[in-house]
Amino acid sequence: MNVLGIETSCDETSAAVVSEHDGVWTIGSNIVASQVAIHREWGGVVPELASRQHIRDICGVVRVALETAKIDLGGVDAIAVTQGPGLVGSLLVGVSFAKSLALSLERPLIPVHHLAGHIESLFLQHGAIPLPLAVLVVSGGHTSLYIVDEPGSYRRVGRTRDDAAGEAYDKVAKLLGLGYPGGPIVDTLARAGNDEAIHFPKTRMTHADRNAPAMKGDLDFSFSGLKTAVLRHVRERTADGGALKDSEIADICASFQRAVVEALLDRLFDAADRFGAASVGIAGGVSANSRLRDDLGTRGRRLGLPAFVPALSLSTDNAAMIAAAGLRRFHAGVRAGWDLNADASLEL
Ligand code: KG4
Ligand code: ZN
Repeated sequence: MNVLGIETSCDETSAAVVSEHDGVWTIGSNIVASQVAIHREWGGVVPELASRQHIRDICGVVRVALETAKIDLGGVDAIAVTQGPGLVGSLLVGVSFAKSLALSLERPLIPVHHLAGHIESLFLQHGAIPLPLAVLVVSGGHTSLYIVDEPGSYRRVGRTRDDAAGEAYDKVAKLLGLGYPGGPIVDTLARAGNDEAIHFPKTRMTHADRNAPAMKGDLDFSFSGLKTAVLRHVRERTADGGALKDSEIADICASFQRAVVEALLDRLFDAADRFGAASVGIAGGVSANSRLRDDLGTRGRRLGLPAFVPALSLSTDNAAMIAAAGLRRFHAGVRAGWDLNADASLEL
């Protein structure tokens, strides 16, 4: 069967066709119209501009997705759409489009949680993965740890208490004057820097959390303190009115990145140990980070735990992952009614 996936939760308009034959998923197309160039000027995503651009792009993106997969509308067996979380105006464009299409084609409509999509990107890429899987979902809006005990079940065991990891990257890039989105820029500059140059603090949870390892909440993350530490360091270094040298910027990027990656992987491997995971994985925009990918592989090999990462095209927001999560839910019998609404803070 062919599922058309539609994703418009933030600033990428995406449509994809994922086919299932004998239980195996293949990507027929995965088209993304990025709005980065529009939002760059403002240093971040402007919700009103995002929803307007989704409206302009959605028809063309869906048409190209079908053409690339070499099917026409009649070949679409079901439509999966991101219901939330995300920017409500952006989500509404995808949800309304998907509802209209499903109604006119008389095909089932399947609502998908955006983070379930990110997690399913791993199964779309790798097929069978040893379960339970401990998976870190790291994006611009989320930093959460899930245990997948069986396909389609997602148990949250940790989350960020303040900023998401991608948000921390974007904010640090902004205060260093590096442009938007910051994650890929910091990742590139960090390669030329010394990651031991500055010892930014490693975030810890409360005293009680540290001393009671099995306590609820100790797999949580916090990145706002690290962001403030970078800000303080930059202020000190530029107090005399001078600008940072390129080599200093590279050192800050490398040292910041080491602190983020260690915090993320420490908790991922803690969770894997505590919940008896047979494998570990990362997903979401920040899973495109080169150091996070490398260190995950190194630590996984050291512990004999298979480690899974999505292809770069499946890391950042895309509709193929939504179609995959839609296939999972289709088989579980999930269908949306015609009263389906976008939900900006949908829970998984
Ligand atoms: O999953 P995603 O495309 O959108 C959300 O659902 O938020 O993630 C976007 C985030 C941005 O914060 C971006 O800076 C970050 O992912 N990102 C990266 C890298 N590539 C994208 N962060 C660190 N290193 C990267 N290479
Ligand atoms: Zn995302």
